[in-house]
Parts: sequence; structure tokens; C-alpha cells
Amino acid sequence: MTWKDSFLWGGAISANQTEGHFNADGRGLTNFDILPMEPKRLDDVYLDQDNIINQSYHFYSGRHGNNFYETYESDIELLAELGVNSFRLSVAWSRIFPTGEEESPNERGLQFYENIFKKLKEKKIEPIVTISHFDMPLYLIKKYGGWFSRKVVDLYVNYATVVMKRFSDYVQYWIPFNEMNMIMHIPFIGAGLTFTKNENKLAKKYQATHHQLLANAKVIQIGRQINSNFKFGCMMAAAKTYPYTCKPEDVFSAFESDKYNLIFSDVQVKGKYPNFLATFFEKNQIHLQTEQEDFEILKNNTVDFLSFSYYSSACSVAKDSDVEKVKTNGPDTVKNPYLPASNSVWQVDPLGLRITLNQLYDRYELPLFIVENGLGTYDDQFVDGRIHDDYRVNYLKEHLKNMVLAVEEDGVELIGYLMWGIIDLVSVSEGKMSKRYGLIYVDADDQGHGTYKRYRKDSFYWYQKVVESNGDYLFD
Ligand code: BG6
Repeated sequence: MTWKDSFLWGGAISANQTEGHFNADGRGLTNFDILPMEPKRLDDVYLDQDNIINQSYHFYSGRHGNNFYETYESDIELLAELGVNSFRLSVAWSRIFPTGEEESPNERGLQFYENIFKKLKEKKIEPIVTISHFDMPLYLIKKYGGWFSRKVVDLYVNYATVVMKRFSDYVQYWIPFNEMNMIMHIPFIGAGLTFTKNENKLAKKYQATHHQLLANAKVIQIGRQINSNFKFGCMMAAAKTYPYTCKPEDVFSAFESDKYNLIFSDVQVKGKYPNFLATFFEKNQIHLQTEQEDFEILKNNTVDFLSFSYYSSACSVAKDSDVEKVKTNGPDTVKNPYLPASNSVWQVDPLGLRITLNQLYDRYELPLFIVENGLGTYDDQFVDGRIHDDYRVNYLKEHLKNMVLAVEEDGVELIGYLMWGIIDLVSVSEGKMSKRYGLIYVDADDQGHGTYKRYRKDSFYWYQKVVESNGDYLFD
């Protein structure tokens, strides 16, 4: 028996970026549905001025997705043809509880996901289910201020309980929250947070974080009672931070950056807040509202595995006045001069994946799961009726080789690899369809024009061989 015998090869998507049909079958509006395209998309939302909630924009890409709501059956057929044995998707809270406060769930929403899970079962594809992936009922944001309110904890736990009970026969792997650490970077998307001028934003973000951590632990507690075979994962936007130079100050700056980014997994894996936070909270006038029982709940309900997304490494410098910055899927980072230019919108660092896997495994000694990795690019073009995305193949090949080395040479325990955006979808940071990740092309533009028909890219056939050979093809 080798690690490869049970390895999960697959792909990943989320509800908000794919389903579309935002008001079908009783679904309620979400934060993702009201986001404008970039550049204002990721801005903090202030309530005392014209804001995202009250503005109206001519087009909302999040309401259209890639039409998965209609095409899920044929999409799953395509995944089966690709040969993958796993598929990560999320459930949209507002399909099940349109405002978040209904007494009973919306059966049509539940039925939609049941149909998906049945189809996946028929095709022997293991679902990996994110219960909250960057969306929540807009009603809860307007009424309670999103995850800032403790009230939302119970509403979410109730929603998650309904979902876990209903799909207990279909789903074993659960991820209660996508990339909780993104609350610090995109608080409206990550936690439905809105601000007023001059308030302590950091305090609000950590309060919302505490509520998500608590909800996460409660869901694990209840989930284990529903089905003892359930496995729960914490999901992090991960990226090892390199020091810009070997100057001790730069090394310390990189160390600090990782330390703060890993708070979220520290709590979910170790069941307690790291010690340094007490001083940090004091310095920043952060007074968390907690209840005595919270800490017991966190302690007793830690995760079974650590899942993460990896797109690129980060880089940090002590004094950043004259260094160039670049974008990442998290906050901007110092440009790493050693990483080559590429087709990616973000810097590309395949060895960084091996380093990140080692970093996380050394710290937590828990099975890891890569649940997002892929190349987002504007370069996909039809030539002779095909999309020759050799740049995507190169990206994936180099990352996958490093993944294999991390397992075979470094001893990292790894459950699987799920390629992100396996079917082209609406990007979170830009709101565009044209930033494409998929092995499967979707004929739709940034304004929702197009047939939404699916086409296999060259990378589809390449990944098919990788999966079929259980990874051996990477080294041919
Ligand atoms: C991750 C998110 O942070 O990054 C995904 O979990 C997202 O939902 C992915 O799509 C890539 O980011 P973007 O901005 O290119 O969509």
C-alpha cells in the first residue's frame, strides 16, 4: 500500500463563483451577488457613505457564475471523463436558508445539492464540501452586521447541521469555512463585515474571526455526533513567506508575517489561541467578547486535516519603502526577484508549494490536503477550435512534481490534490470570467454574453493522463 492508493485527484469550485441563477428556487441574495467588478470589488465597505450595499451596478458577475446550476449533470459527466475521483464544491447558505433566519430549510435548495451528490456517487466521485465559501445571506449582513454578531454563530450552526444531516450518506469530507484567514484582507467577502469611519477595524475582524472559529468547532462537535466517519478540515490561504534578504530584520519580518497568517489554523488544529495574541490584542485595543464555554469548545473540537490553497509564495522586508510590490490572492507582497515572469496574474513558485507543505506539516503533524492550486490567466484563446494552454500544463506539472517530492522525500502526509477552478468560473478578486483557471473552458465573457458551452482545453487531456497514471505521467 502506498500513499497513491487512496490519493484523491480532483478539482474544485465554489457555489458563488459557478452556480448563477441567483434567485432561482427561492434562493436569497448574498454578499457575493452584490459585488461590482474590480477595482472597487475588494474595498472595505463603509456604511456612512455610498457603499456597495446601496449602490446599483449594471452587471453583477456573481449572479451569473458559469451556469453550473443548470449544467451540473453534464459537468459531472465531464469530470468523470477526466477520470478524477474527487470534487470540491460548496453549498450556498442562501439556497438553504434564503435570509438565514427561516424556521425551516428551503427544500428546493436541498434538492439541488442532493441531485449533485447522487450524480457524483453514480460516477464514484468523492465530494469534498465547503459549507461556507465566501458567501452568506445578505439579510444577515444588513440585520446583524455579518459575522461580527454572535447571533450569526447559531444561525450558521443550524444551517450546517441541516446540511450535514441531510447529506450524511453522501459526504465524508467537510470544510466548514473557506480560507478563514482572508477575513483580515477581504472582510466583506470573508465575513460580511461593514465599517463606520474611525472604528477599530482590526477589533471587528478578530471578533468575527472568533465567531467563525467558534462556529467551526461547534459544527465539528455536532457533525461527529451525526456521523462518526465525518472528517473535518480547516482551510487556509497558505503561502510561505520568504525574507527579502538574509538580514535578520527581514527574516524576522517574514517570520512575523507567517505567524499572524497561521493564527487561524493554530486555533483550529491546536484548539487554543497562540500566546502572543494576548499582547497583540492589548496593544491594538482589541477586547474580544467571549463566553467561558467558548474556550472549552475550541479545545475539544479540533480538525482532522488541514486543507489549504496555494497559488504563490509571499515575500517580506523589514523596511519596504523602495521595494516593488505585487498582487497575490491575499494582501500585496514584495516582488520576489528570483521568480520568473509567467502567464499568471500572480508570481509563480512551484518549489514554494513543497516548502509550504513542509512548513504546515512540521507545525501541525496533521494530514494535509491541497484543495486549491491553479493558474489564473487571461491568455486562453481558441486556435483551430482548441485552447492550447501549455502554460497551464507547465504550471500544474511543476507544482505537482513538487507535491510528489514533498510526500516521497520529505514525508508529508497528503490526502489529495484538487485543482482550482477546474471549470472556468468568476474570479473572486476581479469578478471576471476572463481570468480563467479551468481545464474546461466556458464560453462566457465578463458581461455574461456567450453560450456557456463547455470545451476541453489541452490541459484537460494532460491532467487526464496524470490522474490515470496516478501521477507517474508527471515524470515521463
Ligand atoms: C482563493 C479562493 O482565495 O483564491 C477562491 O478560495 C478564488 O474562491 C481563488 O477563486 C483564486 O482567486 P481569484 O481572485 O483569482 O478568483
